[in-house]
Amino acid sequence: SDVITVAELAKRMGVKGKDLIKELMRQGTMVTINHPLDFETAAILASEFNYEVENVAFDEETLLEHSSVKGAEEASADDLKTRPPVVTIMGHVDHGKTSLLDAIRTANVTAGEAGGITQHIGAYDVELDGKKITFLDTPGHEAFTAMRARGAKVTDIVILVVAADDGVMPQTREAINHAKAAGVPIIVAINKMDKPNATPDKVRQGLTEFGLVSEDWGGDTIFVEVSAKLHTNLDRLLEMILLQAEVMDLKANPTKRVRGIIVEARLDKGRGPVVTVLVQEGTLKIGDPIVAGTHYGRVRSMINDRGERVDAAGPSFPVEVTGLSGVPDAGDMFHAVEDEKTAKDVAQHRAQKLRETELARTSKVSLEQLFARI
Ligand code: GTP
Ligand code: MG
Repeated sequence: SDVITVAELAKRMGVKGKDLIKELMRQGTMVTINHPLDFETAAILASEFNYEVENVAFDEETLLEHSSVKGAEEASADDLKTRPPVVTIMGHVDHGKTSLLDAIRTANVTAGEAGGITQHIGAYDVELDGKKITFLDTPGHEAFTAMRARGAKVTDIVILVVAADDGVMPQTREAINHAKAAGVPIIVAINKMDKPNATPDKVRQGLTEFGLVSEDWGGDTIFVEVSAKLHTNLDRLLEMILLQAEVMDLKANPTKRVRGIIVEARLDKGRGPVVTVLVQEGTLKIGDPIVAGTHYGRVRSMINDRGERVDAAGPSFPVEVTGLSGVPDAGDMFHAVEDEKTAKDVAQHRAQKLRETELARTSKVSLEQLFARI
């Protein structure tokens, strides 16, 4: 497959284009400077110049970058638009993460559209005074850590849920460590305030140890006392999230080519691979050529978390997308590219690299087994 032009290859190798053309001629190939070279030819050519094949073999970054050059060139500071914050809820077992997510969502849905049917797509957005907030609906450290391990930064703000009747527990500590390691600000939601044995000040006290000091105690961490059960103070929590987001001045360029993250992925009997994408940059549209992990395709359909068909999704918006060739992993990067061929090239190259890694592992194992037998 064509992956790089003579000019690009020369530039990357730091040699003159005409020297590459000369070498190609010597090998019996007549080309111009803008001629595309396939992987094999580029690799052989590079090795003639004592370059490591790996250097020029297939630069995915460049390809994906190139794919977005059109947008980037035209982009200016004006193109950066405020985007909704992406929020993850974390906390100790049973402290009410799921209840809080559900409460926020139900309260918002019933307020917005009577009887709106919610769809579980792995993320959803709510609105307060015309401003949106996106919640990742896979609470817990696992999703967060798995994504971070893949280098994906999805979360802007962590809501740390601590039960007022239980206080700081091991996973509270873990959540704080994860958020701190990722450099993500924490808002504390003291939950279960409806319980008679609720002692919110004990929670405040416990968290000071981690440098989370509430504003009324002279610190700078936002604390909100809520009850997921009674839906108490949820709007206040949303307000505080929006306030924090405003301070962070979260922006993205909706005109660039799309870059996003796979939040959820599964195989649907009727619709094939179905993925939830959180768009981070650009605006995803029906028909866009896309690549995610080792899979590619075109956006065939998109629905939001209310099950409604949408034909465009901008920064911070989660949409369920069909049209990929296979099921990627949660946390995989998602890109829209120039054309389906590029999508296919990138996906296939990744698949090949994966196979090589597997193969290297297998042959190493068999070598070890061989020695074991001796
Ligand atoms: P895991 O997913 O298992 O870690 O738990 P979780 O953090 O998602 O907690 P979940 O929402 O499942 O709630 C745990 C229990 O606490 C359930 O029995 C809830 O009904 C209860 N609960 C959650 N929020 C509140 C609340 O505000 N008040 C009261 N009284 N009970 C609550
Ligand atoms: Mg839960």
